Amino acid sequence: MSRTFSLILAILLLYATFVSAVQNVKVQGADFVNSVTSNRLQIIGVAYQPGGSAGFQEGSGIDPLSNGTLCLRDAALMQQLGVNTIRIYNLDPKINHDLCVSIFNAVGIYMLIDVNSPLPNQSLDPGNLEGSYSSDYLNHIFSVVEAFKGYPNTLGFFGGNENMNTVGTGGTVPPYLRAVTRDLKNYIAKNSPRTIPVGYSAADVAEILTDSWAYLSCNINGQANDPSRSDFFGLNSYTWCGPTSPTANYQASGYDTLLSTFGDTSIPVFFSEYGCNKVEPRVFDEVPVLYGNMTSFMSGGLVYEYYEETSNNFGLVSFYSNDTAQLLIDYDNLQKQFNTLNIKALQSMNSSATSIQSPKCSTSLISSSGFNNSFNLPSIPSGAQTLIDHGISNPNQGKLVTVTDTAVTLPVYSSGGTLLKNLAIKPLPNDESNTPGGTSTSSGASPSTSKKGAAGRIEVSLGGAVGTAFIMGYFFL
Ligand SMILES: *[C@@H]1O[C@H](CO)[C@@H](O)[C@H](O)[C@H]1NC(C)=O
Ligand SMILES: *[C@@H]1O[C@H](CO)[C@@H](O)[C@H](O)[C@H]1NC(C)=O
Ligand SMILES: *[C@@H]1O[C@H](CO)[C@@H](O)[C@H](O)[C@H]1NC(C)=O
Ligand SMILES: *[C@@H]1O[C@H](CO)[C@@H](O)[C@H](O)[C@H]1NC(C)=O
Ligand SMILES: *[C@@H]1O[C@H](CO)[C@@H](O)[C@H](O)[C@H]1NC(C)=O
Ligand SMILES: *[C@@H]1O[C@H](CO)[C@@H](O)[C@H](O)[C@H]1NC(C)=O
Repeated sequence: MSRTFSLILAILLLYATFVSAVQNVKVQGADFVNSVTSNRLQIIGVAYQPGGSAGFQEGSGIDPLSNGTLCLRDAALMQQLGVNTIRIYNLDPKINHDLCVSIFNAVGIYMLIDVNSPLPNQSLDPGNLEGSYSSDYLNHIFSVVEAFKGYPNTLGFFGGNENMNTVGTGGTVPPYLRAVTRDLKNYIAKNSPRTIPVGYSAADVAEILTDSWAYLSCNINGQANDPSRSDFFGLNSYTWCGPTSPTANYQASGYDTLLSTFGDTSIPVFFSEYGCNKVEPRVFDEVPVLYGNMTSFMSGGLVYEYYEETSNNFGLVSFYSNDTAQLLIDYDNLQKQFNTLNIKALQSMNSSATSIQSPKCSTSLISSSGFNNSFNLPSIPSGAQTLIDHGISNPNQGKLVTVTDTAVTLPVYSSGGTLLKNLAIKPLPNDESNTPGGTSTSSGASPSTSKKGAAGRIEVSLGGAVGTAFIMGYFFL
């Protein structure tokens, strides 16, 4: 080793903070894929919003990713459950999320982030589209991008959630949704160190579902990389209400018609919420079907929801004001279903699916008469282009931190009432995402050594200047 090289290495080691990071996921054709290994990522996820949207108070300093003690407990339980993705609906972009996000990163869990919130000026108002599509609104959603763009486990942003929730809103909202998608993607292209996908989460309104997907996933003028095109399409679906025989339910739930709707999709489609609770406890017998033959056109889904809200009976875990938590039977049932999945098969790429070209937008793609078929999008509100060109003022930008505590300190009880002992997160090596069955999958051929060896992304901080170096090699720590 030359002296110069040794010196450089020594400086790097001196200033480097070792933060293992999941590999970025990108959209490739109709799949989410690991940008390094090209393995397909099927979303095995849960919605994560303590207290529901009613529990979100801006200015309180609290949101779902603000308290590391709670995130550590939840990440440990989610790691055991086998999820690889969480969806978070309402976040305060001004507060610090570093510890929570770093905990989820450490156990190989990605995040899908909603940029909108129920607060004033933080979402499009279908009754006042022109007024609500404002500079203030864009400043808010860009601030969410700023807060999450620096984390490697940010999988994507939902630019909209159920904005078209009636046949009527399908007549007016679509051009605005594409405009918001365009603005978000232009902001990311200009201000983010990497591309982060932007998509939509649709309400299950049968009359307009196909049109919504067709409208959002085409390219205007056939323009490649049209920024107003959605990168993915989520569907909130509650139609499979088990248990009957899976075969009977495949038809009864309407899952069979999803193939005719989305079979030739050019972008990833997944359930952005699922888990009908009309029959309790839930047995989740849709899971083997969703991750079975539906993987030819679907990329998994997110179970609604991790936390039990006041008697909504959608939760997997109950938590109480005395800081104890208890797993519900739904948690056990879902875990059993996840444990049956063949992860290796799920990760193998489907090259034929990814080769489907995105269609050129045209009125002929839209089939119902009331649905908007105009691709003339509203132009960006005056004053907002400068936000894109120069970035918003005083952004709060998150970054990974080292996770030192791994043991869960809050009591958690099993569904049967016994205290869980030694509950902890088990940080995964660099390139792994969490998988069911207590095992993680490594894509890379990393030879194991008696010490920790890793090839990956290392944050290097040199006298205030922060750079990222991709270093192939083994560091014996
Ligand atoms: C985090 O949550 C725990 C458990 O509810 C609580 O004891 C603690 O005070 C919270 N920490 C902060 C910083 O709010
Ligand atoms: C919403 O934005 C408008 C301008 O677009 C502003 O006048 C109003 O004060 C904002 N409301 C809130 C609650 O921030
Ligand atoms: C489409 O939506 C825009 C914006 O809401 C509206 O101005 C226009 O009239 C609608 N066009 C059609 C053909 O529905
Ligand atoms: C998928 O599986 C379901 C349930 O087993 C079956 O009814 C259906 O025909 C299958 N669909 C395809 C496209 O293979
Ligand atoms: C791959 O995708 C094509 C096109 O969507 C589909 O016909 C085929 O069944 C898929 N194969 C697998 C193994 O999922
Ligand atoms: C915490 O509260 C729950 C619900 O009220 C109760 O069932 C449980 O026994 C309490 N646990 C402790 C340790 O106080």
